[in-house]
Amino acid sequence: MPFDFDLPITRENTHSVKFDGRQQYFGTAGVTPLWVADMDFAVPECITRALANRIEHPVFGYSLYPESLYDAMIDWFARRHQWVIEREWIVMAPGVVPSLFAAVQAFTNPGEGVIVQSPVYFPFFSAVTTHQRRLLNNPLRENQGRYEMDFDHLEQCAQQGAGLLMLCTPHNPVGRVWSVDELMRILDIARRYNLTILSDDIHCDLVYPGYTQTMLGRLAQAGDKIVTTLAPNKSFNIPGLGLSALVIPDPRQRQAMKHVFESLHISNTNPLSIVAFEAAYRGGAAWLEALMDYLAETCRMVANFLAREIPQIRMQVPEATYLLWLDCRQLAMNDNQLRDFFIHECKLGLSPGIVFGEGGSGFMRMNIGTTRAHIYDALVAIRDGIARLP
Ligand SMILES: Cc1ncc(COP(=O)(O)O)c(C=O)c1O
Repeated sequence: MPFDFDLPITRENTHSVKFDGRQQYFGTAGVTPLWVADMDFAVPECITRALANRIEHPVFGYSLYPESLYDAMIDWFARRHQWVIEREWIVMAPGVVPSLFAAVQAFTNPGEGVIVQSPVYFPFFSAVTTHQRRLLNNPLRENQGRYEMDFDHLEQCAQQGAGLLMLCTPHNPVGRVWSVDELMRILDIARRYNLTILSDDIHCDLVYPGYTQTMLGRLAQAGDKIVTTLAPNKSFNIPGLGLSALVIPDPRQRQAMKHVFESLHISNTNPLSIVAFEAAYRGGAAWLEALMDYLAETCRMVANFLAREIPQIRMQVPEATYLLWLDCRQLAMNDNQLRDFFIHECKLGLSPGIVFGEGGSGFMRMNIGTTRAHIYDALVAIRDGIARLP
């Protein structure tokens, strides 16, 4: 079945954060939005069909999670990730970010340490600091544009009274797919220091040809304390529907997470997100494969363009995610100047790297989840903006 990722879709006036939130975030609506992590592509037809069928029924009452939803998710992870998830390990949750916040409350006490690996998706920081836990940063090390974990430093963090490690796998924004060896080293440290790992695998399906995502939960043994957050939301471009799943093999940990959600009286989900979640995992595979091929080609185009025409900006081709981590340090601007340069000179709305914490200064994150023509125009705008610099 052909999928047309080149088809431009107008998203203005759809209450879209990415489009309709530009004035608020950038101070102007006159930028091409390449920031918040959703894509401008139409979702797979299996999802729109399932939603249309459900909408035919005119009542949208409180809803239950059907067994078929769990089956679809279990099948997906068995087939695509060789990970056998047991039904009772699954806890449905409103979104992945709420689960990050809930995990901090469920698995640590005030004052206890939580390890994060910057630069990283910024709610990892606020999940810790909002709840008066101690942020223990284990910065990733950059090696010629490729990022690696600093395991010695991670161990030192674990020794400083940490109860939880929040892992981003694949990693937003640096685009790494962690290897089995890296994941095993993390597990080894977690075992020796009795750490719980919150493994945020929301980008697990957005892996480029040639790379393989290993789910940390698949490597676990009895006694390991691993809580995995998953969702079809990024993979199939339905983050606005806001439904995710937690996989928690340990019954006490499962109970602890449920308790946090129950204490907030987080209600059941809505009937539309249920059908979209199930339809995506049942019927979205061919669309996803075509998507990753399309995005891989866009990555190649960006890499070639930068090398040829914008040597001041460097990029390591990502192993996963539709988020490019652009190293703009050679432009010799501070973070405010860099942000203003992209907004006012290039008319582009990217995410400033500094929001991802230590290690993000001098970088910009570009969302390429849009037509390749749009990304080409953005590259031309950056090149021309640089040419006009004094
Ligand atoms: C690593 C990571 N976790 C979570 C989210 C958002 O999850 P949700 O929208 O389900 O709260 C994102 C979105 O960009 C992300 O990159």
